[in-house]
Amino acid sequence: MIDRRTFMTSLAIAGLGLAGTSAAALADANAMRRRSLNFKIGLRERPWLLGWDAMDAPTCAAGPDEIQVEGRIPASLDGDFMRNGPGGHVVFGHRYRHWFDGDGLVHRFRLKDGEVRHDGRIIDTPKWRAEQAAVKPLFDAFDTDVDGSGIQQKPDAMNTGNINIIRHAGRLLALWEGGSAIELDPVTLGFRSFLALSPKTSGLPFSAHPRLDSDGSLWSFGYAGYLGKILLYRIRPDGRLHTAHLIDAPDTPMLHDFMITDRHIVFILTPWRYDRSVSGTFLEHHRWQPEKGGQALIIDKNDLARQQTVDLPPFWTFHFGNAWEDGSGVIRFDYCRYVDPSATTEGFRQVMNGEAPTGSSASYDQARIDTVAGTFSGAALIDGPAVEFPRVHPARMGQRTDHAVMLLADPDAGAAHPYFTTTAMVNQDSGRVDAFVHDAREIAEEAVFVPATAGNDGTGWVLQTVLDFGVSRTRLKIFDASDLASGPVAVATLPYALPLGLHGSFMKG
Ligand SMILES: [Fe+2]
Repeated sequence: MIDRRTFMTSLAIAGLGLAGTSAAALADANAMRRRSLNFKIGLRERPWLLGWDAMDAPTCAAGPDEIQVEGRIPASLDGDFMRNGPGGHVVFGHRYRHWFDGDGLVHRFRLKDGEVRHDGRIIDTPKWRAEQAAVKPLFDAFDTDVDGSGIQQKPDAMNTGNINIIRHAGRLLALWEGGSAIELDPVTLGFRSFLALSPKTSGLPFSAHPRLDSDGSLWSFGYAGYLGKILLYRIRPDGRLHTAHLIDAPDTPMLHDFMITDRHIVFILTPWRYDRSVSGTFLEHHRWQPEKGGQALIIDKNDLARQQTVDLPPFWTFHFGNAWEDGSGVIRFDYCRYVDPSATTEGFRQVMNGEAPTGSSASYDQARIDTVAGTFSGAALIDGPAVEFPRVHPARMGQRTDHAVMLLADPDAGAAHPYFTTTAMVNQDSGRVDAFVHDAREIAEEAVFVPATAGNDGTGWVLQTVLDFGVSRTRLKIFDASDLASGPVAVATLPYALPLGLHGSFMKG
């Protein structure tokens, strides 16, 4: 079913091929050193760039005596709030070009009996270990050509595991999307192995946004734009591979997230497509082609060969909240909609170079796909402040959810930075927005909803981190999910600052 040799070879060479010369290698190394200097200069003018500073040590840890707590940590919160994101932005003086390039920083707040402790580390992947031994960068990244010599390694040779962290079937998994999921040691958070679900799928891409089904199965995918293929995974509740199914998707775009309903798998194929004729980094291979429009690819969960496509207007999206079906053949979903991917191609390079970011921001939209009529419609629920990181009840993927927590970058919030200012719980049914504006020097990171019940009532807690660049500290904030506006019920301030991360989750103890 899967021609693994072709898939792998193309992935490693054609897909990410960064052919170059030794002169280019020198230029690339110089560009990385120059970027380090540019960032230091930029940081003096724009102190909020602390969020994109590099982790200055490979590990961090703080006990209850070192963490300042205001308010009371709810005793019912028993577990680990874990996060992941690029934290190793600099390798021996060489600074990566893009926010998504650096080595993964995983960290956790362990909550128990109203107390909190914290630890974290740069994931000691084979890539990280090899570069530590060589005392220089060796491997290319999502958008950095480190040495101009072209990629000859398999994707996992440069796998940083730097996007998300989940737990499934007893495994703690750090997720990238260009290669395998990485199993971490649950005690030390160190690298344990690349997840090999089967010999056929070993080393193949695995997304950073798997979706947990109501029966405990985990759905995920890997994409290869240069081959026009998507690999769909279904993992049994016990962690064994149920299905690995290869899907033809010509001109597969950048594909970061997807959705499940009770009956379908849904991919939104935007017109940010892979172009084989372009040379450069993986990011540079993708061209925005709005004239081609987009498509929804809808796959029957019970018969993966049964597929339907629905035409979409051109937009770019990173993240979906949830999707569910209303019984009349209509799939409803919520997502962050960008007019184009310029924040990724411009803004996330600019912050790495010490500059203020430019690029399009997202609205928060609700959409309907009528699978009977074959039509798409949608409208913005929040349009104005930039919106990202929508999160819903983690056990209600594919079922109706009316509550989603998300971040807003509100230009009217009085913040001293251009990133996320506000955490909001949005009721999609009533349109009610319950929001909390953070302090002017706090940058908000993804908030997660920790529900109190299995239902769709929106009760429980909201957990998130913020970076206070004014005092160089990272904080955990805990809110009553029903009342964000009143402010956090507890704030735990670490004795250090961490680089801004991407995704995480709460794992019950
Ligand atoms: Fe993501």
